[in-house]
Amino acid sequence: MVQSSIMIYALKRLQKFYLIRKDFVRKYTNSATTLSAKDRLSYLEFIQLRQSEAKRTIVVQVNSEKSYLELSNYCKTYGNIVSAHHYDVQHEDDHHYILLEFSNEEEASAAINDSTYNIDYTGVPVRSPFLWFKATDKYQLKKNELAMQQIGLNIDGNRTIDNERLNNLLLASSCIEDQIKLLYQQTKLNDVGLRLRFLAALQVQHAVSGMFPNANAQPFGSSVNGFGRMGCDLDLILRLDKGVIGKTNTKRSESRLVFHTKENLSNGRSQIQRQMETVGDMLHLFLPGVFHVRRILQARVPIIKYHHEHLNLEVDLSMNNLTGFYMSELLYMFGELDERVRPLMFCVRRWANSCGLTNPSPGRWITNFSLTCLVIFFLQNLEQPILPTINSLFRSASQEDVHITEDGINCSFTRDFKRTGFHCKNKSQINELLLQFFEFYSQFDFHNRALSLNEGRDLPKPDHSALYIINPLEQILNVSKNVSLEECERLRIEIRNGAWLLESEIEYSTIPKSDKYSTSWGILNLFKSHENTITRPNFFLKPRMMEIKDLFDRTGTDNPTPVNGNSSTKFKNLIVKKQVQNIKSQARTEIKQMHLNATTSSAVTMTTTTPIKKTLKSKRSR
Ligand code: CTP
Ligand code: MG
Repeated sequence: MVQSSIMIYALKRLQKFYLIRKDFVRKYTNSATTLSAKDRLSYLEFIQLRQSEAKRTIVVQVNSEKSYLELSNYCKTYGNIVSAHHYDVQHEDDHHYILLEFSNEEEASAAINDSTYNIDYTGVPVRSPFLWFKATDKYQLKKNELAMQQIGLNIDGNRTIDNERLNNLLLASSCIEDQIKLLYQQTKLNDVGLRLRFLAALQVQHAVSGMFPNANAQPFGSSVNGFGRMGCDLDLILRLDKGVIGKTNTKRSESRLVFHTKENLSNGRSQIQRQMETVGDMLHLFLPGVFHVRRILQARVPIIKYHHEHLNLEVDLSMNNLTGFYMSELLYMFGELDERVRPLMFCVRRWANSCGLTNPSPGRWITNFSLTCLVIFFLQNLEQPILPTINSLFRSASQEDVHITEDGINCSFTRDFKRTGFHCKNKSQINELLLQFFEFYSQFDFHNRALSLNEGRDLPKPDHSALYIINPLEQILNVSKNVSLEECERLRIEIRNGAWLLESEIEYSTIPKSDKYSTSWGILNLFKSHENTITRPNFFLKPRMMEIKDLFDRTGTDNPTPVNGNSSTKFKNLIVKKQVQNIKSQARTEIKQMHLNATTSSAVTMTTTTPIKKTLKSKRSR
């Protein structure tokens, strides 16, 4: 009874949360809008709501979405279906699934308990919410049963928007600000994406719950921190005792009855590796849908990777990555604190991906997580900061927020939005922030300085890593240690290109809307930056790279003449302006020198013999 009233309360909160979100999207005005602290779900509330939703859910493979009526009529004998979602997974042929959410856990269990095994096929008899709807002649759907059907089916719940459609939508937007918001709305992980991820977590949790009834498997990373796009991987943490995550860990049980337990191996790391090996075997041998299990146990954070066939997910399972888990909580809070953070982050992530700075496979390039830190650091460093420092969240922690990991890492920051005491006075639009982001990092001294999100300022670099971002929770670590000098250099170059390009786009975006429809504009050009370096089809725009001719033709003055009839380039940032002017005047001096040399050498050529002419010619034609 108590449990069901908690559930109803939880459901109402979730509904309210989504209604607010919808309303927010509809009303999103040009000025910054922020949800009040009481309307936001805390990370723990959000995780618990999604976990309880997963427990009320079954996933049934069907022939097509048309099987829904028959399936829902069949399943209503077990309980009340409160929502239904169709999605498909492309294998050699299309596999269709329907996710049915019951009103409580018992109803979902009743459906699972009643399920049978496939007699045509010898498989491991595992009980799970992943089911298959067998065709039959016996079950005939009656007309009145059809009429009773009330819950509509949400179709294609996991479909990712294709690039062409997204580009067309972006093309038709009215301004860059709207393009950025639209990109976020169209590509962020949706409700079904979240449901599938929490089901994958529940499956792992169930698998070990016989021996570890308090086990808890939870998604973390971009799947839940609000920065995930459709199709992002699932980072999962499995703890064998749920008290360790999401709850305060300070109170020790006072019971006089103490469990007998096996002693850990002397080396904690090899203990985790052995446990993970066993979990990996179990996933591989027993869990339906789990394929292609790989064990990466020598890494700093040992993980098991696998593919989930029924959920179409790539999963990275870890057992001791508690700081990664708490980091997700911090990132979630940053995303919730200001509505501009997530759209800005999506835009930066997509830009980095489109110019090849990031790559889904691990390597010497910057990761999405490091990129996320760059955006947060920038937002902390604005004249009117949009995000607070992490140290201020630590200072506002209450007794309830005290979390110290087994390795002694302090993750005790406030989880309460009201306690942060942070008030943002910055009213900039997201497109302005995006330009400022590029300008900020165009000048950042990556060679000598490290980024501290804890202090919200840069510090001297502790070592010679190309890019140094102090890990906010494990401050002796560098989040971007993997980044090579070459990749850091590419990042700097692309950031400068981004600044140049976006300046032009912002200027261009003021021309009448109808002229823009036919050709790529705004952030679309930012996402095609490589193509643009080579050809720039739109002659309305200023060229991203200055024509050398334009630099050389000017005489005597430091004021650039208008390009393509536009007014002279306006720089928002005086330092960038100064840098550009310096480069230009240096280039002019060098050109003058080259002219002088050329005149001298042509004079020489005219007075010398033919062989020298030949040498010059052959050099030119090479
Ligand atoms: N993490 C961390 N320190 C790192 C790398 C990762 O704390 N050096 C944590 C972060 O909480 C991060 C999570 O682990 O969000 C998952 O890492 P990863 O999958 O690399 O990044 P995501 O944020 O999930 O981004 P993506 O969409 O690329 O998966
Ligand atoms: Mg991830």
